[in-house]
Amino acid sequence: MFETRPLHPLFVAEATGIDLSRPAGPDLTQAIEQAMDRFGVLVVRGQTLSQAEQIRFAEAFGPLDLGLRKLPSGPAATRHRLEHEALIDISNVAPDGEVAARESRKVLSNLANQLWHSDSSFQAPRARYSMLYAVVLPSKGGETEFADLRAAYDALPADMKRDIAGLETEHFALHSRFGLGDTEYTPAQIAAIPPVRWPLVQRHPGSGRDLLFVGVHARAILGMSLPEGRLLLSDLLEHATQREFVYRHQWRVGDLVMWDNRATVHRGRRFDLSERRELRRSTTEDLPAPVAAAVRS
Ligand code: OGA
Ligand code: MN
Repeated sequence: MFETRPLHPLFVAEATGIDLSRPAGPDLTQAIEQAMDRFGVLVVRGQTLSQAEQIRFAEAFGPLDLGLRKLPSGPAATRHRLEHEALIDISNVAPDGEVAARESRKVLSNLANQLWHSDSSFQAPRARYSMLYAVVLPSKGGETEFADLRAAYDALPADMKRDIAGLETEHFALHSRFGLGDTEYTPAQIAAIPPVRWPLVQRHPGSGRDLLFVGVHARAILGMSLPEGRLLLSDLLEHATQREFVYRHQWRVGDLVMWDNRATVHRGRRFDLSERRELRRSTTEDLPAPVAAAVRS
């Protein structure tokens, strides 16, 4: 029987009584969606999932997102290693199966995952659910941290809530990579994913709660100078990711962690890049409900 047990005072639950390798019927899909609406992050331990089974599980929640792989080929493109096009390779493994060199595009590009972000917030549709499945883990480090953007909004002082009401932000795919000094992208790649705008304060559809939509893909606040906007964005992100708002996931092989990118941000933690770390991500697009239902049927 599907059950949830909270793992943090503000969000995150462990879900038990499910085998994700079996097709999730409409009842289980709905139970998972309800738990996601409430907790924002679900941890499911002890799963054995083939690549095809992970894709099938994800597809129950909507059409799949390809993330940054929309980039045309160029220095930042890496050959896809996994069977399914929509399975995102969160690993430091090269196409030949060996641990990739620390200077390789693959490793450099994945390093940006160690900054607080919401998946694909740099495009529309953005990501709704991400599901990350652990296959091989390093001997230490490499945890993933999550913070709840609804709790972050709730905890803002009233005057800050007033100051930011109605503000719009601009998100850009390569902003965080540029910030890290990873600038080896061609003009075609830079043009491939144009920036998108999101309201800074949003209402989460599933819980009806307001949230602070921040993260490192946000590069500007519209109508504000870049420095003023970036300082405000970085203050708000710092607020949202205070220790007491953060859940740190200590991975075990066979864990699948599922999060709602509309309600949370996450980041990977440092690990020894010469050790193998291999996870697979499936992600659904955040389509408006009627469109998603039509695509599904
Ligand atoms: C991701 C991600 C962080 C990690 O898969 O979207 O940001 O810990 N991963 O690998
Ligand atoms: Mn991510």
